[in-house]
Order: sequence, then structure tokens, then C-alpha cells
Amino acid sequence: MNNYKLNLEKYAALARQAAAEGCVLLENRDQALPLKAGEKVAVFGRMAFHYYKSGLGSGGLVNTRYTVGILDALKGNKELHLDEKLLEIYSRWIEENPFDEGEGWGKVPWCQKEMPVTEEMLECAGKNDVSLVVIGRTAGEDQDNNAGAGSYCLTETEEELIAKVCAASRRTVVVLNVGNIIDMSWVAKYQPQAVIYVWQGGQEGGNGAVDVLTGKVCACGKLTDTIAADIHDYPSTADFGDPYKNFYKEDIYVGYRYFETFAKDKVLYPFGYGLSYTTFETKAEISGNTEDELTVSATVTNTGSVKGKEVVQVYAKVPQGKLGNPARKLIAFAKTAELASGETEELCIIIPKYDMASYDDSGVTGHKSCYVLEAGTYEIFVGSDVRSVQPAGSYEEKFRVLEELQEAYAPVEAFRRMKAVQQPDGTYTATEEEVPLRTVDPQVRRKENLPAELEITGDKGYKLVDVLDGKVSLDEFTAQISREDLIAMFRGEGMCSPKVTAGTAAAFGGITDTLQALGIPAGCCADGPSGIRMDCGTKAFSLPNGTLLGCTFNTELVGALYEMTGKELRLNKIDSLLGPGMNIHRNPLNGRNFEYISEDPLLTGRICAAQVKGMRRSGIGSTIKHFCGNNQEVGRSTSDSVMSERCLREIYLKGFEIAVKEGGARSVMTTYGSVNGLWTAGSYDLCTTILRKEWGFDGIVMTDWWAKSNYEGHQAEVPVKAPMVAAQNDIYMVVTDARSNPEQDDVEAQLNAGVITIGELQRNARNILGFLLKSPAILHMAGRISEEELEAMNAREEDDVDANNLVKLTSDPETQEIVIDGSLLHPARGNADVLAVTNDFLGDFNVIFTMKSDLDPLAQLPVSVFLDNIHKMTVSIQGTQGKWIQETRILNMGFGNNHYIKLYYGADNLQIKEIRLVPVTE
Ligand code: BGC
Repeated sequence: MNNYKLNLEKYAALARQAAAEGCVLLENRDQALPLKAGEKVAVFGRMAFHYYKSGLGSGGLVNTRYTVGILDALKGNKELHLDEKLLEIYSRWIEENPFDEGEGWGKVPWCQKEMPVTEEMLECAGKNDVSLVVIGRTAGEDQDNNAGAGSYCLTETEEELIAKVCAASRRTVVVLNVGNIIDMSWVAKYQPQAVIYVWQGGQEGGNGAVDVLTGKVCACGKLTDTIAADIHDYPSTADFGDPYKNFYKEDIYVGYRYFETFAKDKVLYPFGYGLSYTTFETKAEISGNTEDELTVSATVTNTGSVKGKEVVQVYAKVPQGKLGNPARKLIAFAKTAELASGETEELCIIIPKYDMASYDDSGVTGHKSCYVLEAGTYEIFVGSDVRSVQPAGSYEEKFRVLEELQEAYAPVEAFRRMKAVQQPDGTYTATEEEVPLRTVDPQVRRKENLPAELEITGDKGYKLVDVLDGKVSLDEFTAQISREDLIAMFRGEGMCSPKVTAGTAAAFGGITDTLQALGIPAGCCADGPSGIRMDCGTKAFSLPNGTLLGCTFNTELVGALYEMTGKELRLNKIDSLLGPGMNIHRNPLNGRNFEYISEDPLLTGRICAAQVKGMRRSGIGSTIKHFCGNNQEVGRSTSDSVMSERCLREIYLKGFEIAVKEGGARSVMTTYGSVNGLWTAGSYDLCTTILRKEWGFDGIVMTDWWAKSNYEGHQAEVPVKAPMVAAQNDIYMVVTDARSNPEQDDVEAQLNAGVITIGELQRNARNILGFLLKSPAILHMAGRISEEELEAMNAREEDDVDANNLVKLTSDPETQEIVIDGSLLHPARGNADVLAVTNDFLGDFNVIFTMKSDLDPLAQLPVSVFLDNIHKMTVSIQGTQGKWIQETRILNMGFGNNHYIKLYYGADNLQIKEIRLVPVTE
């Protein structure tokens, strides 16, 4: 990469294009859309005035320079005439009914109170050519959706709004600014002419949506999930949301794999569905068939009257065989270029047969723990959604083993899983069978594969850059690291460590003085995925959410967008994004679905691989998360996802496998929770057998923030961290000070007891060093960042936050202390307070914060301290469930007696009793 400047215009244009291509048009009767130039438009729904740019929690906390919502973009379009009277009515009502921010992290309302529709408003509907009704929903980290009104379903007021506007308008277009699919049963009842999902599109979201509404971009997004008639139609609903244990009884029959096989009639909108403003004719056939690959050639012609893009989806119907298989399985997809009316494009799609294989976890085929192709006819279907696809040929296959693996991470608890059996008439019956249980003890496997121990040599004068220059081997270098530092390296520091870019999630690697002395830099990672989160208020670009990116089915566009994100990370001295998020949409109620892509693993994997590759082009790592089975927020650190090994591999791991093998991901984040009785962070089979040995991953694995692990058969606990070391989960995230072991973890004790080995710590340290050697951090440490890049970093827009108020404080003449009374402060997300401080004492002060929050311990509440506009620290506490706690940091005010201290708050629901600055006199 040699052009380091971030071209914000290009960035915005790509994000806008993605936001447009991700819009999914579900209904468009009588060509209600696109809106035509000169048309009069009545805009309904309070969310038109707010706009959810993303969901909640770590994946949504980007401080943007601007956000264009739907109404902003409509107003910016000079060819449309908005009904000003109606806008005025809403504005007045919103003044009296302001946006409800809720209590912050994990406790933000899913929807906002809607304005009841009045006769006066309905008159506006009648007077205009078209009515737009904007409905919004949010959800996110620590907060699943709820199946009722106001979350998955419409509220009564919203339903009434849609009903009455539909009745009073010539054309009604319902625009859904939501993170995730919602209940759609109202469409048949009220029959709006058009319905469009515009998702949460980041800071350019409104522009992208309006580009589609006005036809500037031809609608081309496709659903990444099946929309069923009722939430209870999803086979996972019955086993979703228990805080302790959820049996994945539906097994591999997730989303369309279930509906197309067993319950076609329950589907309102099938997977892959989405209308266009033009029409396409697609002819496809199998044009090549080798032992390993199938080639499908498709000819797509735009038969309509406007230019547009088409998504070609290829599905397989593989033999039922002994394993049983879904009726359809997405095996490839491609998107055409923008085709003019009458234009044709030939697509040649090469499909590895591995993508059609099934995993035998029972040995029923005679080949246990293998990916196999069962004997029989393989039928290929091509089209633009799973339901309407057409046959594109078939071929015969003999039984074949494609890959021999080892049993790994299988369940230990018996339960029955779903199995498809095909009837003579071609229909399928859902039967049940016992899941095969684990037969291999992962601890035995681990002990048989313990890494060799390097003799610790102490500092021999080698610096990490010498490894880069080929002067010493990584082993020779690693041997220098003391036992104490090997343990410290296991602990990442955060949130908001002063050792790396302000306001980011963690520092790792060179986090002690002695590690730094060896030339090991502190690597930096930041959330992710929908833009860079810097809790001290630094501005960054807010990206469309994961589901929207999936709906584009456009890997090239997503890759180009994330190449820009890679540049932005680089300019902010961040080595890895904590993203993409790639858990499977097992159930529509998962609150973090907005961050993730789809119910389908192949689509998830390919979209995320494009993101990973895009960031790699900028020399930046990406942390694919959450590995794996993080499919609900309720009880996310206590719940056990119990699933068969086949289901694990074919559904919940497949996307990660693609992101590693095809995308070249270099960093992985495990989850808070457990799979098959073992918390993922301490699962040797997950982090070593599967990830590294099978997939060839050679990067780092980190925990989710403050995650736990367990010894098999026991519950997870905070101090239990040795299983992470043993599993090759290289870094525990996060502690405030790696050396002092603030969480009293058991790593040193278990090392002394011989439960874990120095060899394992050294192996993990090598993984971390290997990551740093491929990151900008080592170039910074070695002073090898080019002039051009440094210049670009310096030129980066310096963003500041506005101060709320100015309080003047003077130190106490006797004690020299400065006391900031909490009642003077305004802690709320995005707020800042500025204090003009006069201090007699010159030198270090202990800054003692007394704070609390009613939120739960996984909530993150950062306060940043700037001295004379220079960021000094960000103190991030976790939710304290109402208990006052103290945090102490050092602040140097060695020069000058007058300063400005600015406090910037990154979250709601934080209370500050006082901040006391006490001179350090010893
Ligand atoms: C989330 C992760 C995130 C981390 C750091 C956790 O609460 O689950 O996705 O990357 O915090 O903010």
C-alpha cells in the first residue's frame, strides 16, 4: 500500500453505494417505486426524523462526523416536494416527545414512541402523490429482540399508522430502518404498495436508501434471511433464549435449509429474495465438472427498461444419502455489473465440491469425522432466490471422502436432533435421531501434542525487528522472554489503555517495560465492526451494518469499502479491527444479528472474507468474531449452546473457516459463552484442533472482553484462565495492568502446578509476536513508517468535542487537592465538561474517580480526560450494578498553574460522585 491518505469522498461514495445495494425491496405493486421527479411526498413516522445508523453496544459506538438519515436525504433531493405541513406536525410532536435514549448500554428501548396518526395528518396523505412511512427498530449487545410489540412486531400505534396511511394514500411505501428482519404479517393486512428494508446504513445510510427510493440506484439487494409468517415458525425459537442451556435441536436445518425442506408454506419472503426495478433473464447450465470443481455458466440479460444489477444464486440439492440433507444449499453466488437495458453478461462460477460436502459425525457412511459426498444425483439450481430457482443441470457422483478430519468439540450431552427423510413423492419428513456424542477427550489430545519448551535465555540483545530482518529466528527471540513477561503477554490491557490509540478497546503484546525493551510494540485493536470505536470522542467513519452488507451479495464492493476502513485504522495506529462479526442468524430474536450477515454460512463467510481481504490490502488485521455459537445475548456468558458436531462444522463454523482459508484472517475472538459444555475461550479443540491444525490459521486468538473459561464439568469463573492458555487462546482481554494480575487469575499457579506449561505460553507468545511482525505496530516501533504515511497521519483531521459548560476550580490552599464535585458534571454519551483548574502544586496528581452505574458488569462506560486538549487517559469502568467504586490514575500537571481539564463521556447511565486530584508527594 503506498497511498496512505484517506479519501473521505471516496469512502463516503463506497459506503453510499453499499447502503443502496443492500436495500431489499420486498413489495412494489404497480411500480410504486421509484419515486418520480416532481412528485409530492408525505413523510410519516417519527423515525424519519432520527434514523438508526447502527445497532447498540460495542458494534455501534462510532463517533461520526455526520449522519445522513432518510429525511435528511429526502430533503437534499431537490426533485421531490416534501409535504412541509406534515413535517411541521411531526416536528412539533417530537419536541414534546423527544427521542428516548433509555438507560444506556443494554437498556436502550427497541423502538421509539410513535405519534398517533390524526385526521389532519391523513389529509396530508390524500393530498400527495405518495406516502412514505418510516419504521425503526434497534437492538444490540446485551439486549436481544423480544417477540412482542415494539421489538419484533409493530406496536399498535405503528400498525394503525400504516393501516390508516395505506387507506388514505394513493401509494404507500413502508421503509424499514431496522437492524434485523421483523415480523411482516402486517403487509398482507394493509397491502402497502411498496415495502423496503433499508436496514441500518451507517453515516451514509439515508443517502443510500434514497438513491434506491428515487431509482438513482436500481434496487438489487437480496434477503440474507428467510422471513417466515410467525416467529414460532423458526425451528430454533423453541430453544432460544435460555440463559443457561439451549439445545440446537434443529441441527443443520437453519433458515431456508429448514423452510425449503419442511415448511415452504410458512415462508412470506424466501432467502435470497428481493425485487428490482428492471427484469432479468438468466440462463444457466453446468459447463464443467472435474473431480474437485463444478463450473456453472450463467448468461444474464437485462430484459427490462432501466439499468441494474442482478444477483445470481446457485443452490445444490445433494442426495439424501445416509446423512440426510436439506432440499437446498447455497453453494455460490455472483453479482453482475450494472447492465443497461438489453445488455448481457456471462458469468463463469467455479464451485469447489467441498462446498457441497456433508460432515459425517456418526460414522453412518462408514467414514466418521469426514467431509463426504454421498452417492447419487447432484441437482443444481440457479436463480435469484432460493424458491424461484430453476434447474441448471445435474450429475452423478459416487460416494467419496473429500476430507478426513478428527472428531472435535462434539457434544457430551445426549439429545435428539432433526433429520430429513425424503418420501417417495419427493417431499421431506422431519424425523429425529440421537446426536453422536464425544468419544475423544480434548485434554488427552492436548497432552499428546504439547509444544516443546524453549530454554529461557534472558535478554540477549535481540529486538523483534531483528526477526523481521531475518537476523534471528522467532524461537531465538522468544526464548529471551522471561516467565513473568510470558504470563503478562497473555493479558491484554484495556479498555482505553494509554499505551495505544486513545479510546480503543485494548493493547496487547509489548505491554510491560521489559517487553518494550525487547522491541515488542504494543499492538492496538478497536471495535468494530461498523466503523472504528474510539471512546474518547475521536471521530471515525460509520459503516453500514453487517446484515446490510450481506444483502448486497457484492463481495467486490464490500472489499473496496473495507480497504478504506483498513486505511482509516492505519491512520489511527490501530492494528486490528474487532470485526467483522460473523455469527449465524440462528433466530431473528438475536439482538446482535445487525452486526452479523446471514442465516447462511457460505454467504457469511464470503462477505466476511471480502472484508478481511479488504483490510489486509491496507496492511491491517481483522478479528473475526465471535468464535463460535454466540447466537443470543441473553445469558451470553452463562449459556451453553449444545449442538452436534455436524451442525457445528456445517453451520456455525463454516463462515469462520471461509474467512480464515479464503480471507486470510489473522485474528479471532472467542465468545463469552460455552459450546458443548466448554467455554469457547478454553476449548482446545476449537482454538487448536480445528482453527489451527485443520484450517492452517497462524494468527492470534483473543477472548471477548472479560470472558471466562472453565475446567470441564465445572462452571466458568473469573480467575479460571489457565484453560485459555492451554487451548491456545493467546490473549485474555482485558485487565487494567497486566503485571499486577488484578483479576487474580490462576495462570501462574497452574504453571507452578504443572497444569499448563512454559512451552504453551511460549507458543502463544510466538503467535502474538507473529501477528505484530505483520502489523504496522512493528514498523512504528522500528521507526520504519514512511514519511508519506507519517504525513498522512499528521494531516488526519483533528476532531474535537464540544464542551458543555466551563467550571472554574482552585486547589485547596492547605491540602493542595482539587475536588470536582459530581453534581457539576453532565455524564451522558457524547457529552463533555470542561473545568478550568488552578493548581498550586506542580507534579503528579492521583486522580481518584468515584463512580457507579446501575448496569450489569459487561456494560462498558468510558470517561476520557484531556489536559489542555491533549488526551491523557480514558478510564473505562464496567457496570457496577449500583455500587460505588473508585478508580485511580496518575495525571501530571508539572508545568504551569492553569489548565483546562476536559472530561468526555462515552456512555449513558454513569454517575460520578466526585473526582479528587490529590498531589503525589512521596
Ligand atoms: C463485545 C465484543 C467487543 C468487545 C470490546 C464485548 O462486549 O462482545 O464484540 O469487541 O466488547 O468492546
